Amino acid sequence: MSSTTIQTQTEPASATLKLRSSTDGKQEKDLAEYRYSHLLPVFSQDQYPPLTPFDHNDPGHRALSHPNPRSFLDNATKITELTPNLGTEVHGVNLRALGSDARDQLALEVARRGLVVFRDQQEFIDAGPDFYREWGSHFGRLHIHPTSGHPQGYPEIHLVYRDANSSFNFEIEDSITSTVWHSDVSYELQPPGLTTFFLLSQPSTGGDTLFTSQVSSLNKLSPQFVAFLKTLKAVHSGVEQANFSRSGKRGGIVRREPVEHDHPLVRKHPVTGEEALYVNRQFTRRILGLKREESETLLRFLYDHIDKGGDVQARVHWTPNTVVLWDNRVTAHSAIVDYGESKERRHGARITPQAERPIPALEGLELS
Ligand SMILES: [Fe+2]
Repeated sequence: MSSTTIQTQTEPASATLKLRSSTDGKQEKDLAEYRYSHLLPVFSQDQYPPLTPFDHNDPGHRALSHPNPRSFLDNATKITELTPNLGTEVHGVNLRALGSDARDQLALEVARRGLVVFRDQQEFIDAGPDFYREWGSHFGRLHIHPTSGHPQGYPEIHLVYRDANSSFNFEIEDSITSTVWHSDVSYELQPPGLTTFFLLSQPSTGGDTLFTSQVSSLNKLSPQFVAFLKTLKAVHSGVEQANFSRSGKRGGIVRREPVEHDHPLVRKHPVTGEEALYVNRQFTRRILGLKREESETLLRFLYDHIDKGGDVQARVHWTPNTVVLWDNRVTAHSAIVDYGESKERRHGARITPQAERPIPALEGLELS
C-alpha cells in the first residue's frame, strides 16, 4: 500500500510529498505532473516570536467616500446574491487586474455582504505566491499560521491539503460531523479581517464550504438578550490547535507558542458599524466573569444557535478557478469533508491579513 510522507524540514517543494511505495505508479506520476506542485505544503521547523500589536487601517474606510464604491463591478457579466443577507457571486471581473482603488472597494463590498465569490479567476490563481502576498498586504499585515503547512518560502500562505493518503486539516475523527463553525485564528489579539481563499485542486463533487452571517445570527436574538451579551467577554484559545499539531496529526509543528486573548462577545465592524456575534466552537473557551456552569450553558446555547442557522447560511461550491473572499469579523465558516472516499485531492490556499483588535459593540467595555 502506498502512502505519502510530508517533510518537516525545509526543502524544495518538489520533494515535499513523497510516495514511499512504488506500487502505485499512477499516483507518483500524477504528483509529478501536478500543475501546482510548487505550492504543496512544507512544514518548516522555523520558529517565530510572538506577534506584536500594530495599527490596522482598514481599506474599506477609503472606499466609503468613493462616489461609486461598487464601480469595480462595472464589468461584471453576472452578479447573483446567494442569499438575502449573506454572499454575492460575481462573474466577469478579473481580480488579478484590480488596482488599489478597486481593492478598497472590494474590501467594503465584502464587509457589507460578508462573503463574495468570484468565478473564472485562473489568472489570479496562476499569478503565484509573490502575487498572493502582494495582494493580501493591501488589506492588512499578513498572518503566519503557527501550525499550518505553506508553500516553500512563503510562510504567509496558509494551505489546506487532503489527498488519498494525507490530510492536514483540523478534524475530529471521532465526531459525527466534520462541521466545525469557526472564525479563523480568533485567538489572536488582532484576528483576520478580509480573507482570500481559493482551491488549486478540488474534488469533482463535495468539499464545499459553509458560511454563516454572525450579524444575522445576532439579529435573531431578542434585544434584551443582546444587551446582556454585549456586556460580556470571552477567552479565545489557540492551545488545543497547537496540541493537536504537537500530537502529530497536523504536520507536527508549532512555530509560534499558542496564545489566548479576551474578545467581546459582540463586536462592531470598524467600517460598516454592523454588530456581530463573536464566538465560535473551535476557539472560544469560556465567558469571563460568569460561573463555570453559566458560561458553559450560554456558550452551548450560542453554538447551538449558530449550528441551527440554516436561514442565515450560504454554501460555496468550488468550481475550478473560484476565488472567495469573506470578512472574518462578521462571518463564520466550516469545511465539509464529505469527499474522503473519493480519494481526490483538495488543495487550497488562504491569504489572511490581520485586522483591528475586535471593537466591543458596547462602548466602554474594558478589555484586558
Ligand atoms: Fe477556517
